Amino acid sequence: MHERLVLTVPTTQRCHSCSRFQLDGAFDLPRSSCVPCSVGGVDVPLHPDLGPVAFLLGTWEGEGRGSYPTIEPFGWRDTTRFWHVGKPTLLYEQRTKDIETGEPRHAESGFIRPGAQPGQIEMVVAHNTGHTELATGVVGGERIEVGATRVQGTDTAKQVVELQRVFDLSGDVLTVTLAMAAVGQPLTHHLEAELTKVTT
Ligand code: HEM
Repeated sequence: MHERLVLTVPTTQRCHSCSRFQLDGAFDLPRSSCVPCSVGGVDVPLHPDLGPVAFLLGTWEGEGRGSYPTIEPFGWRDTTRFWHVGKPTLLYEQRTKDIETGEPRHAESGFIRPGAQPGQIEMVVAHNTGHTELATGVVGGERIEVGATRVQGTDTAKQVVELQRVFDLSGDVLTVTLAMAAVGQPLTHHLEAELTKVTT
């Protein structure tokens, strides 16, 4: 059982985690959760420039499968969240767990921004593997395709020179795929996951 606490949040206060404005009132929630947001904060309006990517908003969960010519195939459980704070930038975080052991696997956090022209999109991501990724691409019809040739690694990160991602919503299912050129291999499939929205 989580330790419980009761919070009274003034209307003007923002959540420390996601910066959303919060409801006025008292909540009885687990201390470990993002307290006010998990019961539905009062959202600021979505910036109109985020209209084309609004289909991503919310928390998504599901499972994925990964492979690469240099490694054994693997599976994972995925929790990916997209949210906004009224600015023309979508905030993004992905956390994964080994499908068999439940141990934490890959994690990444970043931002999705409108590009220079309508229908264009930019993505900025930091990975727990020591990589950063600057990607550009296109959005349309609940599908995003981005590619990054500007991938940097820390001194201990494995070599990654290119990434390509697709986010495709079909019905209730968000399919996420990633290919990479890494560790001496040409651009090759690495990941595919199917996610469904668990909270808006
Ligand atoms: C859902 C997200 C991901 C999961 C679950 C995942 C999982 C894995 C696993 C289990 C391995 C093999 C063990 C290891 O070397 O640690 C691996 C290897 C690797 N992954 Fe991923 N990965 C994910 C995303 C990414 C991303 C976004 C990148 C690029 C930035 C990446 C780059 C690599 C590289 C370079 C290797 C090493 C291949 C080798 O050494 O032969 N992975 N990944």
